[in-house]
Amino acid sequence: MAKICVIGTGYVGLVTGTCFSDMGHFVTCLDIDEERINNLNVGILPIFEAGLKQLLDINVEAGRLKFTTSYTKALQDAEFVFIAVGTPTSDSGGNADLQYVKKAAELIAENLDHDIIIVNKSTVPVGTGEWITELISEQLGSNTPSFSLVSNPEFLREGTSVNDFMNPDRVILGSADLEAMDKVANLYQVLRAPIMTTDIRTSEMIKYASNAFLATRISYINEIANICDALGANVREVARGMGMDKRIGSYFLDAGLGWGGSCLPKDVKALAHMAESAGATPHLMHAVMEINQNQRIKAVQNLKNALGTLKDKRICVLGLSFKPNTDDTRDAPALDIIQMLLENGTSVKAFDPQAMPASKAMIPQLLLGQDPYDAALDSDALLLATEWNAFKSLDFTRIKENMRGRVIIDGRNIWDGIALQKMGFIYIGIGVPNPKNL
Ligand code: UGA
Repeated sequence: MAKICVIGTGYVGLVTGTCFSDMGHFVTCLDIDEERINNLNVGILPIFEAGLKQLLDINVEAGRLKFTTSYTKALQDAEFVFIAVGTPTSDSGGNADLQYVKKAAELIAENLDHDIIIVNKSTVPVGTGEWITELISEQLGSNTPSFSLVSNPEFLREGTSVNDFMNPDRVILGSADLEAMDKVANLYQVLRAPIMTTDIRTSEMIKYASNAFLATRISYINEIANICDALGANVREVARGMGMDKRIGSYFLDAGLGWGGSCLPKDVKALAHMAESAGATPHLMHAVMEINQNQRIKAVQNLKNALGTLKDKRICVLGLSFKPNTDDTRDAPALDIIQMLLENGTSVKAFDPQAMPASKAMIPQLLLGQDPYDAALDSDALLLATEWNAFKSLDFTRIKENMRGRVIIDGRNIWDGIALQKMGFIYIGIGVPNPKNL
């Protein structure tokens, strides 16, 4: 069993460390955030992620998983060090901010006393692997431990990350050092997933191209939804019919308020930025981002059209996280829409099973309900922004009693519009015909 150090205890780092320890390896997770490490050492996780806490507890208990802020301790005897730190957007141009990757590389070099394989899991612009290699080589100088760099992008999704790590569709490895790549491949062998090996730049690009493709699929179906709206077709059925074609497939074809989160927005932006910096023209990426932003604007417009004005109205928003089963509100469509509503003089009362504290911290004027019914109290309209399972079977008689108005915008197409219209609501979905016209 290998000794592994994982730098960064965000979604990727914590899941990677915990899962490798569960596979029998000895893992030390490192973070420079002392409070985070203190919390982890008493079993408090920085994120809400299904199944992670149980797995973490089991492996800490078994002595295979440790947390520290010390590079010396974490790197001691480690055969592999995984870099899994954040690469947020650094400016309006979309550049990826590499300060955490740089710091991690410098501290690895500073504390290294034996040969090691550095595996980069952070999503980094194409060419970063070579840059890290140079940076560490320069710092180490001659007559020092040797290292190899392997790029190993991560494809896990928030909310299902443990399962995604343990059951990947593929493992991508990129390196100039075939032997090092083989050793990393060995770590993943038990997962029985296809392992593709390539060069570092291609591996780095596979990550961006995959996320950008997912974003493109969603923007594509949202564009089709808008065309369906104009022509009276039903995008849910259109997506179902398209998805039956094996060449297309049915995943990532849910029309709605579009994509958010910490990955797709930053990666599409970064890919466009990278392309432009290298003299290429990313026409499609710009359209994909514009369509996504328009879905949010359109939701506000729909509310305005349905209510006549937004001034002094009360809107109930259900769902705040960028998608269900996470408390993550980064670039969440709901928060963007709420900001626009507040700017128009509307008051907003919301409910979310997990993301209310984070949302309130970002938007202090936001009112919060104790449950969906409380959030709906005295509202003129209700907007469904995130499709949590709990919202799929609401008691609409209670919702109707509590609401002042009758407008429902189903931003994720989860409800039966005809049934709601029969109950007296004015139902507006995304790319589905208005029931009153049927
Ligand atoms: C995404 C990728 O799916 C992962 O493969 C990748 O590893 C990760 O980014 C990353 O780079 O770390 P994640 O950000 O967790 O994962 O979220 P997704 O499940 O991809 O959802 C992204 C957004 O698209 C959400 O806001 C979701 O509501 C929206 N979405 C998804 C749609 O609007 N329609 C769909 O059909 C699917």
